[in-house]
Amino acid sequence: MSEEKKVSMEVISAYAKRKGFIFPSSEIYGGFANSYSFGPYGVELKNNIKDIWWKMFVSRRSDIVGMDGPIILNPKLWDASGHTSGFNDALVDCKECKKRFRADHLVKELTGEDMEGELDKMTEALKDPKMKCPECGKSNWTDARHISMMFKTEMNGFEGSVYLRPETAGAIFMDYKNIIDSTRVKVPFGVAQIGKAFRNEIVARNFIFRIREFEQMEIEYFIDPEINWEPLFDNWLGEQKVFFNKIGVRDEDLRQFEHPKEKLSHYSKKTVDWEFDFSFGWGEISGLAHRGNFDLTQHSEHSNEKLEYFDAVNNKRYVPHVLEPTFGLDRMILISLISAYTEEELEDGTTRVVMKFPRAVAPVKIAVFPLLKNKPGLVEKAKEVFANLSQKYACEFDDNGNVGKRYRRQDEIGTPYCLTVDFDTLEKGTVTVRDRDTMKQEIIKVEEIDKFFIENL
Ligand code: GAP
Repeated sequence: MSEEKKVSMEVISAYAKRKGFIFPSSEIYGGFANSYSFGPYGVELKNNIKDIWWKMFVSRRSDIVGMDGPIILNPKLWDASGHTSGFNDALVDCKECKKRFRADHLVKELTGEDMEGELDKMTEALKDPKMKCPECGKSNWTDARHISMMFKTEMNGFEGSVYLRPETAGAIFMDYKNIIDSTRVKVPFGVAQIGKAFRNEIVARNFIFRIREFEQMEIEYFIDPEINWEPLFDNWLGEQKVFFNKIGVRDEDLRQFEHPKEKLSHYSKKTVDWEFDFSFGWGEISGLAHRGNFDLTQHSEHSNEKLEYFDAVNNKRYVPHVLEPTFGLDRMILISLISAYTEEELEDGTTRVVMKFPRAVAPVKIAVFPLLKNKPGLVEKAKEVFANLSQKYACEFDDNGNVGKRYRRQDEIGTPYCLTVDFDTLEKGTVTVRDRDTMKQEIIKVEEIDKFFIENL
């Protein structure tokens, strides 16, 4: 995306609120902690993105099965995975204005240097009087310190704290054994899940890019430790890109970032993040990690359960290694909105906002209009067409204002087709179908409506 074309977070969040996609949550109480809810079009968009993902990675593959685990899991899981002790972010407070920052982000913004994980170095760097608070302009910092990103709560009948899961992946490992025992999966196979995750982020910002309650779409793909995993890894990167393209993201807005060897977790053979070119810079949207057998081994040790796999063909027993493709659903929604958002200058000198969503992503597929509101026959016929189409597609009925305004409204939410029932419908049995992108209008026979949308949607 070229600089001048980049859609800012201000523009996209204002648009998303105005058009019923995403609202700041608890707004009548002054909002709450940068949390958001999905409005009528937002929830359709979200469901469509989940659906495209599920079809691509679960329904249409014979080697991946789905599951849906709980948000609150046995806390021993988080001890084993290392989250209880190590899922921390570095925090620093401005002693003057009391504003709180994520230390590594602040230091990177001020010095350009990546000091993630190095508390002492960050504390030292912030002693430089040039390191001014972006909020109040003074330079008086606390030491950088770690805080846990896990949300803690209590549960009746359970002693000690429990946690809201900070990632969905943990729940998949909890069901690894049940899935092997109850289904016919054979290595290599994957287990996929979509669901909520919670992180007590120090600063939630950039609209829905960084929030504390979000959704992930994750897969654990179990492989034989002895195979050459590299082609599979590359294949997964390719699949991830196909998915981004399916939700409307352009190649030039994507790049891969491979974690340098010295920064990799000790168990990971390779980790690659996918980044998107946001108005605030490149930001991580998704990732792919080779996690070795770390998770299964840890859970096996902490639970005393054998989590091996028996390969009957080669008569060998092993703990599988795992490739983990992960996608942040809210970030997928954000990049799909940004990629679709287009402002077009029209010949009459006006500008139209049009969301150029791919058809499968668009929250509404067809809008049905009677040309006029109060002409006998027109509204009834339009309602009949709507009743038929809405059995098969997400449709909207609109008889409010002139047709030009109705087109604009549908362009703004990205509806690919508007179908108008007019006087010719009553006299000649035809309707007018208008295409969102070309704005061309086509006359089709009423009895060919179904065929037209089967071919075009
Ligand atoms: N199981 C691996 C895992 O959780 P991660 O990189 O920590 O890896 C995966 O998170 C994805 O979840 C990220 O690429 C991002 O899309 C999304 N994500 C993480 N934190 C988020 C937040 N605070 N708000 C929105 N999405 C987030």
